[in-house]
Amino acid sequence: MSELVVALDFKDARSAFEMAEKVRGVAPWVKVGLELFCAEGPGIITRFKEMGFKVFVDLKFFDIPNTVKGAVRSATRAGADMISLHALGGERMAIAAREGRAEGAGGNEGPLLMAITILTSMDENDIPFPVPDGLGSAVLDLALASSQAGLDGVVCSGLEVEAIKEKCGKDFLALTPGIRPASVSDDQRRVVTPSQAVERGSNFLVVGRPITGADDPAEAARRIVAEMNG
Ligand code: C5P
Repeated sequence: MSELVVALDFKDARSAFEMAEKVRGVAPWVKVGLELFCAEGPGIITRFKEMGFKVFVDLKFFDIPNTVKGAVRSATRAGADMISLHALGGERMAIAAREGRAEGAGGNEGPLLMAITILTSMDENDIPFPVPDGLGSAVLDLALASSQAGLDGVVCSGLEVEAIKEKCGKDFLALTPGIRPASVSDDQRRVVTPSQAVERGSNFLVVGRPITGADDPAEAARRIVAEMNG
């Protein structure tokens, strides 16, 4: 069964908590990204956990292995249930991330480690070097490398989930941002609707503005969950 993650891209804790309160009981997860984390720091993770949410810490780690290991250890200690890092960081960075998780979790299971393949806001025109076999093929290569490095899953477009599951196995998790009702057009490019994402096998759907920018965010979230379940 797929789970909804609401992206809380807000400038401060107050606005984020107001929105979290509205979707509490509808979505099991919230996502803390760069904007909110830079404004409020890791304490915000604990506050969401106290509200009953699971927390996806989406800081997209990409650095030398030792630095990523430390960052994952800290985010794990701060209470993250899921953490993103870039697949492009390669095997040594992925292994270091797993070590950081093990150290931070101190014998517990620790958060899911999800590798960013290629951002869903990007299409071929946004990549500053030739991609002769297309973005889909690059995403697949990054996903396979991430699964071989022992990561839990990938962040990808809903368009790519089926091919990834075929190549990496159905237990390899897929988290898909770029979820849009058919009528919406913005900075996201490789988009699918909520039902398409679920049909294709996505385990987690990340939705931000279609919920947080709606006149009635709770109702927007409920409609998306209904579409996911229907
Ligand atoms: O508002 P919207 O639904 O586009 O939000 C999508 C969220 O998912 C944003 O917080 C963005 O940072 C994040 N994200 C993404 N593409 C990725 C990874 C994360 O859009 N590959």
